[in-house]
Amino acid sequence: MNRVAGKVVLVTGAGSGIGRATAKLLADEGATVIVTDINRPGGLETVQQIGGKARFEEHDTAREADWKRIIDDILAREGALHGLVNNAGIAGPFPATFETETLEQWRRMLSINVEGVFLGCKYGVPALRQSGGGSIVNLSSLAAFLGTPDLSAYGASKGAVRQFTKTVAIDCARKGYKVRCNSVHPGVILTPMGEGILPNDKARERTRQRIPIGVFGAPEDIAYGILYLISDEARFVTGAELVIDGGMNAI
Ligand SMILES: NC(=O)c1ccc[n+]([C@@H]2O[C@H](COP(=O)([O-])OP(=O)(O)OC[C@H]3O[C@@H](n4cnc5c(N)ncnc54)[C@H](O)[C@@H]3O)[C@@H](O)[C@H]2O)c1
Repeated sequence: MNRVAGKVVLVTGAGSGIGRATAKLLADEGATVIVTDINRPGGLETVQQIGGKARFEEHDTAREADWKRIIDDILAREGALHGLVNNAGIAGPFPATFETETLEQWRRMLSINVEGVFLGCKYGVPALRQSGGGSIVNLSSLAAFLGTPDLSAYGASKGAVRQFTKTVAIDCARKGYKVRCNSVHPGVILTPMGEGILPNDKARERTRQRIPIGVFGAPEDIAYGILYLISDEARFVTGAELVIDGGMNAI
């Protein structure tokens, strides 16, 4: 209890999967959570499940104007921002190789998965500084470490998030901003996105067998890692990569 008591934390894409589990865990641990998503019913459902200390805002992370509005609104209403979880993302279509992917699909992927994270850091850092410092967690993926032939733009987008996170971390640290920035790298997690790359029982079993621990991850497995990075327990951690994947990246 109370590992993030008194903190105000924004979680993007919190209307589903990992974002919802993270928003709920942060609230359980004492944070006030701003739940944002393009999916209004999903976001409202998350807030309802939290029951208290949370509110929902519609927010497209690829839109700069949305970021300005959301951050200004948090500073006006909650008076501070201490944590930002850049979780919103897309993975489809699947499969999409570099030969089948269209330029339009590639650009859409990078617009949400990379530009969304860039904008989050760009507008989040000044608000975190103004609040006395804070922590950013960017959702990358195991895909940032491996070739991903069936998810070509997705892999490229998550590689960019992994690298950009270190840039923000070092820049903020050197400038004395008191803002930490780390990336989290989930393996295969059973969310609507995760299910999307497991189209049938055969693919599911083949993928499961590649996980050394032998089971798929749950959204809560990732939420606990994010909670740690948002909390002051991680005060000396910046520019780090937290891999949570049942051992897949270790083989
Ligand atoms: N599930 C996995 O196996 C897995 C593995 C590695 C990384 N990840 C990453 O974790 C994050 C969360 O994934 P998830 O599995 O919970 O997916 P999900 O599809 O269950 O949830 C993603 C949420 O992001 C929202 N979203 C999409 N585009 C948005 C936009 N432009 N603005 C705001 N919200 C938007 C969706 O509406 C949805 O609610 C993603 O960044 C994903 O790439 C997931």
